[in-house]
Amino acid sequence: MSASVPPAPPVLVFDSGAGGMSVARQIRCLLPWLPVCFVADDAGFPYGDWPEEALTAHCVELLARLVDELRPCAVVIACNTASTLVLAPLRARVSIPVVGTVPAIKPAAERSRSGLVTVLATPATVIRDYTFDLIRRFAPDTAITLVGARRLAGLAEDLVAGREVDLSVLAEEIAPCFVEKNGARTDVVVLACTHYPLLLPQLMKVAPWEVDWLDPAPAIARRLANVLGEAAMFPQAGAALPAGADRVIATTGTDMSRLLALLAHPG
Ligand code: DGL
Repeated sequence: MSASVPPAPPVLVFDSGAGGMSVARQIRCLLPWLPVCFVADDAGFPYGDWPEEALTAHCVELLARLVDELRPCAVVIACNTASTLVLAPLRARVSIPVVGTVPAIKPAAERSRSGLVTVLATPATVIRDYTFDLIRRFAPDTAITLVGARRLAGLAEDLVAGREVDLSVLAEEIAPCFVEKNGARTDVVVLACTHYPLLLPQLMKVAPWEVDWLDPAPAIARRLANVLGEAAMFPQAGAALPAGADRVIATTGTDMSRLLALLAHPG
């Protein structure tokens, strides 16, 4: 990039904690020239425990304020629990593109051969109208099992913080995902919380049989690229990202350099 071209305005990637990093890393791979400003609302974690109205008001206010302060080119709500509530009111409030993360029910139904699909999410996401609507529209003939896991997002936070993940707790949490019916078995598990892909190696280790774990993060990064007009409007596209262009902010003010390191080495 020539010295006269400043870095592109960042994309604001938002979650309740480290989970949104599973999405931010895919954005980094696909759009390596685009600065990421990752905001972890760790003061509000876990979103899975919040009542709907309170979470909607909280996220819309916080995101509208962040858009004012940080002037991003787009917002990616890298959180299913928030996206299933906040997308419409936030789009009505801000004038930049807002990309959401919602349970990948359509691709799961298309991919399943057994017709038995599980949606693994927070306890809040599995009772949302948004989720039931996706099932009605895109998977009317698929047997969907909804599993609201209470402790998985916390285990992912443990992992990122360098604490040991208790595999027996993990195994208990995912046991209801695995269904056998009339000789058929669950063959696709939708990771409908952005924290869960961070635990993928551990999930594979404790799963009673092999399944397709569907992580929507690559599709979300592609969606962002599309809404940004495939980067045509950015003179920085294709150029190296200047050092220090990425940021990670925690709403508690906690130091988040460990997350910045995850972004710097997407793998
Ligand atoms: N990462 C969030 C999601 O995708 C939720 C984790 C939480 O705060 O409960 O749903």
